[in-house]
Amino acid sequence: MLQTGFSDAALPVDGVLAILVPEDGPRPASYLAADRATGGALERAVGAASFTFSAGRTCMLLAPGGGFDRILLVGLGKAAEIGASAVENAAGAAVTALGKLTGAARIAADGVEPALVAHVAQGATLAAFRFDSYHTRLPEDARWRLTEVTILTPDAAGAEAAWVDLSAVARGVCLARDLVSEPANVLRPPEFATRIEALRELGVEVEILDRDAMAELGFGALLGVAQASDAPPRTVLMRWNGAGDDSAPLAFVGKGVTFDSGGISIKPAGGMEEMKTDMAGAAAVVGLIAALAGRKAKVNVVGAVGLVENMLAGNAQRPGDVVRTYSGQTVEVINTDAEGRLVLADVLWYVQERFKPRLMVDLATLTGAIVVGLGHEYAGLFSNDDALAGRLAAAGEETGELLWRMPLSDAYREALRSDIADFKNVGGRPGGSITAAKFLEHFVNQVPWAHLDIAGTAWARKTVNCTPKGATGFGVRLLERFVRENHEG
Ligand code: BES
Ligand code: MN
Ligand code: ZN
Repeated sequence: MLQTGFSDAALPVDGVLAILVPEDGPRPASYLAADRATGGALERAVGAASFTFSAGRTCMLLAPGGGFDRILLVGLGKAAEIGASAVENAAGAAVTALGKLTGAARIAADGVEPALVAHVAQGATLAAFRFDSYHTRLPEDARWRLTEVTILTPDAAGAEAAWVDLSAVARGVCLARDLVSEPANVLRPPEFATRIEALRELGVEVEILDRDAMAELGFGALLGVAQASDAPPRTVLMRWNGAGDDSAPLAFVGKGVTFDSGGISIKPAGGMEEMKTDMAGAAAVVGLIAALAGRKAKVNVVGAVGLVENMLAGNAQRPGDVVRTYSGQTVEVINTDAEGRLVLADVLWYVQERFKPRLMVDLATLTGAIVVGLGHEYAGLFSNDDALAGRLAAAGEETGELLWRMPLSDAYREALRSDIADFKNVGGRPGGSITAAKFLEHFVNQVPWAHLDIAGTAWARKTVNCTPKGATGFGVRLLERFVRENHEG
């Protein structure tokens, strides 16, 4: 992770400096001082470029004078709209613009409200995330150079204190991104489980169910998906008990299909490599638990992930097979590519039965249909509880991890009727994301529950703000905020 620090020293007049500036109101003192030190270069540049300081926009000045190598002006947007996520985005834009140019930079953050300055470090850290462990010969111009950022603020001690907790969230996001970025030949279910075991260092209890344990319990749906892979499945349970009592936990459940070939209902070749990301829901749950444990959150939580690889072989599950889920309900597998809901069916039922959680939230790259419906901007939110849905959507607005609520009316049940079993695992093309959510609903046993379909938001094709292209870690910041605002203290 990027090295970040805070300093309340006077503005240095050399090296590389980024200045965060609101669109309206007076210019920050650092801007005025740098303008003076450079004989008015900042004002001249702003005029020449008609630069307006709108959110996330940048303007680079080279050798502007006064000993500076570069000054980067960064827009924070309208003062009234500058919240945590606008600050993170501006810092992210600064780091994105400087990352390949310099090893160390300063960011002047006196234009940011002191209570939000730690979010400068958050945005900078998230934007500097890189997954390049498999590159052995990156060309010079593609190499990431920025390793150290010093944030200039009048209240360095306050920002430092706030960063202690916030940096745990950044580590959680980066952990989730690392897991999603790993190729599927490296991150198979047993390896994924091993990586989760590392959370024990943070005080998390980790329990692993192997194939025999799941067979004993009767996880027929999950095991049917896993049966053609030579990598055995795992269900991993994580517990963080920070509440200091034995109050009912919050439960977070993730789809962890380490590779989704589609199985016998095989996917087309084009883009199939992206299906290594089909465990992004599980990665978000792991990142969330790491974030909460990392900042010693005063809450009891359970994380549960179903880890399988959906493959083809002579012993693969066939279309038309009927499986018995852990709940006792039976499912006719019409399409082996609708595997995520089969995995979640067993894990959801197990979690509600064993832990009696006060609520459950699952995250899953569940359907292509949600990408058709919402694109890459919003994840789909489905819930049997209006208050829970409202709180999640609010946390989404605050963190920039946006959720759009979709219907869950019983009218959609019809589509899942099977002639031979209790349900089919697919409901046809119409409303594909909704019938998938409807399927899951049969396995939550009336517990207040929300399902986040993150198929469109787990992976980004281009860099935006503080999210570099690739794995986004979507869900970690959102759920960490949801827990902090509604379930602590
Ligand atoms: N993992 C996919 C969904 C997906 C699609 C994730 C695109 C990320 C990007 C899921 O398992 C799947 O294959 N869903 C099918 C369901 C269909 C067979 C009912 C789909 O969406 O096509
Ligand atoms: Mn699939
Ligand atoms: Zn899948």
